[in-house]
Amino acid sequence: MSEADLRTQVGIIGAGPAGLLLARVLQLQGIDSVVIEAQSRAYVEQRVRAGLMEHDACQQMRDAGVGARMDREGLLHEGIVLRFDGRSHRIPLTELSGGRQVRVYGQQEVVKDLIAARVADGLPLYFGAQASAIEGIDGARPVIRFRHAGVEKSIACDFVAGCDGFHGISRASMPADVMRVFERVYPFGWLGILAEAAPASHELVYASHANGFALLSMRSPTVSRLYLQCAPDEDVAAWPDARIWGELETRLADDAGFALTRGPIFQKGVTPLRSFVAEPMRHGRLFLAGDAAHIVPPTGAKGLNLAFADVHVLAGGLVEWYRRGSMVGLDAYSATALRRVWKAERFSWWLTTLMHRFDSHSAFEARMQTAELDYLTSSRAGMTTIAEQYVGLPLL
Ligand code: APR
Ligand code: PHB
Repeated sequence: MSEADLRTQVGIIGAGPAGLLLARVLQLQGIDSVVIEAQSRAYVEQRVRAGLMEHDACQQMRDAGVGARMDREGLLHEGIVLRFDGRSHRIPLTELSGGRQVRVYGQQEVVKDLIAARVADGLPLYFGAQASAIEGIDGARPVIRFRHAGVEKSIACDFVAGCDGFHGISRASMPADVMRVFERVYPFGWLGILAEAAPASHELVYASHANGFALLSMRSPTVSRLYLQCAPDEDVAAWPDARIWGELETRLADDAGFALTRGPIFQKGVTPLRSFVAEPMRHGRLFLAGDAAHIVPPTGAKGLNLAFADVHVLAGGLVEWYRRGSMVGLDAYSATALRRVWKAERFSWWLTTLMHRFDSHSAFEARMQTAELDYLTSSRAGMTTIAEQYVGLPLL
């Protein structure tokens, strides 16, 4: 072995929520890992993404010993509001799901907490370390090749966890003939903003409007997070602050005089919407977790929660291997994880389809959307089906 070579039990590619939580859970079980991340620490800690954690995802943070700041600063939610035809309907999530709650806590805060814990424990986490190849996944000793500080290095490991997101190399490292891909690209995106403005509602508001969908969310008692349905390639430059606020006011208006709080906008970005699943999530010694294997549209905020659920199953399998030498859990990883993945895919697709304006829709289909919303919000069964999926289906 040359000086540049590292040896570990689990080589983890990507320091997003999936890779970082996996490293932490394995550490607590006495399993070694090395995490490599292409970007800088500052970049991953500042990347703005969704911020809604399911009941069990919060518990995963606590179980990993990194839940204290989330419990202090995260905002607890027991209901959401669906708004359509200018009327507001509250879905009492907690009441309808046997006491489960969700928490608003920015994904980059989750990432910061997990990085801080890893750094404090002095465990290997390399930033600016881009994986270029994964070799030998069909054998017992796979190798990850990466470049760090201008030097080519490698990690010899027992297993590789591909937690490198949608654009990473892990999924592409699986043999093409074993992989099947399922995809839907939506004909719209979301324009998201962060603003120094007290949230105008203490619960999230999902609004269906003839101009398109809008969502009111928040990050703290003084910071609002708001989204507008837009074109998938919308130019942010065409959206000066006054236009954003005006459009949010139009789409979020209701018959009870809902008034939006305006404030300085300090972040703007456009995200296209996509559903994507790659099957299987494992080949040989390479395991995909999180966005590397699947993407959901942000409606319902399942992305981070699904990544965490994958980690729960993968870590369980790895622990079983290192404790008892049993491959049963690892062999079942893909099938077990995919059962939950597909249900979250279905929920995210359904909520997206229900709430957005589709240019291709006929007047009939638009009436069907309204009738479905009217049914869902006036039936306890309808509200329950939203609530139990929104707070998160149980971990498997
Ligand atoms: N080598 C090393 N790191 C890489 C490479 C590579 N070749 N390619 C990508 N990465 C890194 C990215 O820079 C990123 O930080 O992998 C990380 C993947 O993290 P995420 O994209 O956050 O994916 P994941 O951990 O699966 O988290 C899923 O992210 O996109 C959101 O909505 C999604 O909330 C969900 C969450
Ligand atoms: C967010 O706060 O970023 C958020 C919340 C709920 C969603 C999507 C995004 O459904």
